[in-house]
Order: sequence, then C-alpha cells, then structure tokens
Amino acid sequence: MCGIFGANNGRPVASKLIDSLRRLEYRGYDSAGIAVVGAQGLDLRRASGCVDRLAAVVRDDRPEGTVGIAHTRWATHGAPTDVNAHPHAFDGVAVVHNGIVENHAELKWWLSDLGHEFVTETDSEVLPHIIAKMRRDGMDHRQAVAATLEYAKGSLALAAVFEDAPDRIVVARRGSPLAVAISEDGAYVSSDPAAFDAVGGRFTHLEDGEVAELTRGDVWFDGADGDARRNRWEPVVLPQDGGDPRAGHSSFMAKEMAEQPDAWSRTVASARAFAGVEELAAADRIAIVACGSSYYAGLMARAWFEREAGLACDIEVASEFRHRGGVLSERQVVLCLSQSGETADTLAVIEEMRAAGRRTFALVNTARSAMTRAADRCWLTDAGREIGVAATKTFTAQVAALVVLALRVAHARGRIDADRLEKALDGLASLSDMIRQTLALEGRMASAASAFADRRSAFYLGRGPAFAAALEGALKLKEIGYVQAEAYAAGELKHGPIALIEPGVPVVVVAPSDHLFEKTLSSAQEVKARGARLLLLTDAGGAARAGRLADDTVVLPGADAWAVTVSAVIALQFLARHIATARGLDVDRPRNLAKSVTVE
Ligand code: G6P
Repeated sequence: MCGIFGANNGRPVASKLIDSLRRLEYRGYDSAGIAVVGAQGLDLRRASGCVDRLAAVVRDDRPEGTVGIAHTRWATHGAPTDVNAHPHAFDGVAVVHNGIVENHAELKWWLSDLGHEFVTETDSEVLPHIIAKMRRDGMDHRQAVAATLEYAKGSLALAAVFEDAPDRIVVARRGSPLAVAISEDGAYVSSDPAAFDAVGGRFTHLEDGEVAELTRGDVWFDGADGDARRNRWEPVVLPQDGGDPRAGHSSFMAKEMAEQPDAWSRTVASARAFAGVEELAAADRIAIVACGSSYYAGLMARAWFEREAGLACDIEVASEFRHRGGVLSERQVVLCLSQSGETADTLAVIEEMRAAGRRTFALVNTARSAMTRAADRCWLTDAGREIGVAATKTFTAQVAALVVLALRVAHARGRIDADRLEKALDGLASLSDMIRQTLALEGRMASAASAFADRRSAFYLGRGPAFAAALEGALKLKEIGYVQAEAYAAGELKHGPIALIEPGVPVVVVAPSDHLFEKTLSSAQEVKARGARLLLLTDAGGAARAGRLADDTVVLPGADAWAVTVSAVIALQFLARHIATARGLDVDRPRNLAKSVTVE
C-alpha cells in the first residue's frame, strides 16, 4: 500500500515521476505528490485524489529539479486531503513513506518538546522531522536516515531528498518493499520493480533494514556486504506489449476477465510441472493461509485436498492465524496463498513460520515479490500481471493451481494412479474452453445485473465449493459495486440471515445440480416465499429441476458440478462489474482499496 518512486537522472524529473506513479497507483490512489530538488531548492506538489489530479497541478506549474521522489497514497493515518498527501517536508528534508510508524504519537511528543511543529494528521510526518534533527545533531544524510529507522517502529519503506544535497536520494526499508535500479541515464527507486519498465537497466531489492544512497550514476549500500550484494542485480524485463494497456477493453478488470481462459491453461500447465509436490504429500495436514479473494480460492479448492488426496485441509485468514497461537501438528504444512506476494499478514506468517524453524510454502502470482523471496518453496500461478484492484484472473488461476496440487498430492499418496491423474489433469486443462463459453454469457449477466442496479444490499447462497464461489461473488460486489453483499452457506440461512429477507431483496443462489442441489433449492424456495428477488445460477439439469422458481435463471456451462462452480465465479464477476458500471463507478480503482495490502 502506497507507492514510492524516485529518480536521479540529470534531467528534469517531474514528468518521469508522475508517469511512474501511474504504474504504482494499484497500491493506493487517495492522493499523490512529488518533491524535486535542484538549484532552486526543494519544491513540492501535492494533490488529493488520483495521479491524474496531480498531473493537472504539475502541468501548469512544473518544478525543475533533476532529483525527485514521488508517492501515491493509501491513507492509514489522516484523511486523504492535500495537506496529508506525501511528500512531507521539514527543514530542507522531504520524505515519502510506505508503511506505518507505529510509535508516531510518542515521536511527535518527543519532537514537540524540542520545538517541532506538525501540520498533518499522518504518522509519516515524523520522518522528515527525525531526519532533520539527526542532521542537526551532526549525522550525514545516510546516517540520519539509518538512525530514523531505529527511532521509528513498525514497517517502513522511505525515500528522502535534501535541500543541502541536491545530488542524491537516500532510501531505506524495514518490512515494506523497496527496490533500486540503475539504468544508462541514472538511478531509481520504487516500491515495485514493475515501475522500472520505463527505465530499463538492472535492479535489486533492498534487504530488510538496509539503507542506500542513489547518486546519478550509482547506488551505494550501507553495510559490510555492500559490494557483495552488487552481484545480486537482475535485469529489468521490459514489457513486450506496447500500445493500449487495456487492449480495447473498457477497463483493466474487463481485460483481465477476458484473459481467464489463457491464464487458466498456463497455470494448469505450470502446476503440472511444480517441483517439490511430494513435500505436501508427506504432510499429515495442510493449512492454506491467505487474505481476501485468495482465502476464498483456498476455500473453493479445499474439497480436492480432502476428498481426492485424503489430506485434512484448513483454510485460515492470515491475520487471525498469525495471532491465534494455534497448534500445528508435526508434519502439518502451511501453504500461503497470495496474488501480490506482498500482503503484510500473509508475508508475516511465512516469516514467523521460518523463524519457528518450519519449511515455508507459498503460491504466488507475482514472481518478483516479497513472498517469492521469503518462502522456502514458492510456486507461481501464471495469470500474468493483474492491475484491476478486484482479483479476477488471479483468483481463477489460484483455484486451478490448487486443484492441480491436490490431484498430484492424491497421486503421490497413492490414492489415484498415474492414468487417472493424467485424465483428471487433462480434464482440468480443458476447462479453459468452458471458461470461454462463460465469457460469452456477458450479455446475459448484464441483463441479470439490471435488476440489482438500485439495490443497497444482496445475499448470496451456496454449499460446498459453491459457497466459496458465493463468498467470492459477494466480495466482488462489495469491492466494486459498494453493495452490502453477504454470502452464507445455504444451510445457515435459517440461523439468522433469513430475518433480513424482505420483498425485493436480491438473492443470488449458486447451485450446480449435484447431490446438494435439492437442499440448496429448498433454501432458494424459502427466500422466494418471503418475497426475495431470486437469481439462480445453475446448469441445464438444475434449471430444468428448478422450473419457474427463480425470477431469473442463468444456465451455466460445465460438465460437472465443479466445472459449473468455476463458471459461476466468472458469471458473478460479470454481475458485479455490470452493477458497478451501471452505477458509474470506476471498477479498476474502487474507493478505499488497494491491490497490494502491505500494512497489517
Ligand atoms: C486486497 C485486494 C484483494 C486481494 C487481497 C489479498 O484486499 O484488493 O483483491 O484478494 O488483498 O491479496 P493477495 O495479494 O494476498 O492475494
């Protein structure tokens, strides 16, 4: 959360900073700002709202320096106003920060006693104050930043520029990610190496606790192994696809949804070749630990581990799992699941498990991420980069990879033979065609969405994997449509939620025609009897059995209940997207959310 970028390249940097911020906007878009330093001193521009608003401010009044830092904010402390926007500056020091300074209140008291005055509601504002104090106390720029890392508790990635040293940027990190790059023309810093696409050259991630200084031609690391780490630079991979980044779609979300058949096929193929699956097979229990959509992907795939592989499978919310102090069996494996590979709580689980001496496993979509570096064994889903904040193709890719893993574990545990494994995996791969057929239902789902457009609440019901699909569908509608959408296991309906059903309330029922169909249909009947507006997602057999019960029945493709459930996930993505679009909302940048949640 929050994106940092900085450039020191001998040319006026304002435009470069703003262009690069656009690549980091997925990390937050509450406000944006830049600070450049040059002959004229320190120059700041800030604006609440997205980077486009900052760009408009800078267009009319461009700062001239050749060294600069930039920030796109996801607000933690203080409202998303102009004054709370980063960079924050004090006494010739400007700082951008990603993370949380947990002891900011104590630090403000301490500095206030020394005569410092604070003008924002943010935790981050203490950082330039501490650095300025350390400078006054006689430290050089790097020492002052290193000392600040000691004073400030919590997670932080920061970049600082100085009025009295207009030739450098000093950067540091603990917890939050930060990478530096050197290209032919200069040195750069970014929260995410993806922003180096526009500069090329080579890059490296800062280690935890590391401080570095970016001069125009080089990056200098503090610490004994400063020279040794020079061998760990990687080339920046420049993107092949130029042109329209949305490839003609109305949004990134629409583009990414359309990419699901290919993301599915690629991920099934990669997961068939994952090394080290026998380590899962040797476990006596597995805990899949994740947040948000990733958690629901785990829930959707759980039955495959239990039914096919005979392996007890818990699905855990990372922020709860970490602090619960639960008991793990000797051979229990913890598999962390994340599209970004950066989610703070999930990452902390990996770090805490490692510290406890356990081998750590992760399934991640972003190859160059904190989790890929932290886990002992990291498998990659192959969905490609996802920019829309609401997970779509990364979700279906996670489901695909988990099911392949479960099947391979089932084989390694002797529960299915090689022939059956290959057939099952081929069948799974062929679901990409069914996903294509589901994508063709967009018009059908758009018309289903029209009945929801003016509703403030909705309910989703399902059982087993279809309950997980309902949870994911409801989350999509919350995230991008701002509708109070709640999903319940259909069997729980009568234990409370049915009290909320009144005439006209939309209820979405996900019911493939499996052994649970009649039970789920009973729940549908119960809400219908109380006046709910019923949208039934089922297959041809289910539609025939439900007759005219629902106000709207969408017939999904899929040869079995599992396939129909995967299809339902995609249909529900359409439902959420069309409801959000009908309300005039930005589906790629929903309010208050960020793609990568790097604070707890
Ligand atoms: C954020 C995103 C969600 C995502 C969740 C977990 O809330 O907006 O789309 O599901 O984080 O992220 P992860 O990267 O760990 O899968």
